[in-house]
Amino acid sequence: MTARRIDGKTLSAQVRTEVAARAAALTASGRQPALAVILVGGDPASQVYVRNKIAACKQAGIRSIHETYGAELREGELLARIHALNQDDGVHGILVQLPLPPHINAQRVIEAISPRKDVDGFHVANAGALMVGQPGFRPCTPLGCMRMLEHVGMSNLRGKHAVVVGRSNIVGKPMALMLLGADATVTIAHSGTPDLAATCRQADVLVAAAGKPRMITGSMIKPGAVVIDVGINRLPDGTLCGDVDFASAEGVADWITPVPGGVGPMTIAMLLANTVQACEQY
Ligand code: GUN
Repeated sequence: MTARRIDGKTLSAQVRTEVAARAAALTASGRQPALAVILVGGDPASQVYVRNKIAACKQAGIRSIHETYGAELREGELLARIHALNQDDGVHGILVQLPLPPHINAQRVIEAISPRKDVDGFHVANAGALMVGQPGFRPCTPLGCMRMLEHVGMSNLRGKHAVVVGRSNIVGKPMALMLLGADATVTIAHSGTPDLAATCRQADVLVAAAGKPRMITGSMIKPGAVVIDVGINRLPDGTLCGDVDFASAEGVADWITPVPGGVGPMTIAMLLANTVQACEQY
């Protein structure tokens, strides 16, 4: 058996088309959705991510405000800029690209963003809303993963076991809560989990978000599972690979996301969706 691929490029294009229609309707009513994207420092990967986000906004008819600051920017200056954007009625979403330079407290910066403009879904108010099942902004990567599960007919996970490998605040933990919200039985594992392979083999839905290249091999996958690979790792030869060893996994799984062209494009599409939602709710 060779796994079917969940094509993030095609699915994200669908989401972006829906988002563009909503953005056009808002613009026609005199309120064009706008996203402020702040980059501090010159991290090359962050520069690429930010450029892609700005380009995606343009394509969807969302205005973007792109602000770039040197790595020496003081935390107080960044907080002041966020306060000004919070007050600006022409700005509906605010995104501060992470990571920030080490002298800036990232959590303090995130908490400075108005929860109504926190389209990353990282503010404690939005994280708490997810925890208690209330409306709020959901982090874009896990939201994109849920959209992919929906696409393959896995929106109701009652009776299914989902295993999330990785426990970050921006992917692993919110992912686990969203899977719980879809009625799955959920395990959060990580690289220190005893007998990780046996835990992963229980998964009907396996989400790999540990940031370790090809750590999930075919022998760790339950036959017929849906495998969602959140990892984007650059190998010494310059090529990209996920946290899943695609070559061995695709002989075991039923559905699998490729890297690149899987979860990555979905993350940006969900950011656009959150921004339009922020504008609709403004
Ligand atoms: N850095 C890596 N992923 C993300 C993300 O989803 N949002 C922000 N703001 N920074 C990131």
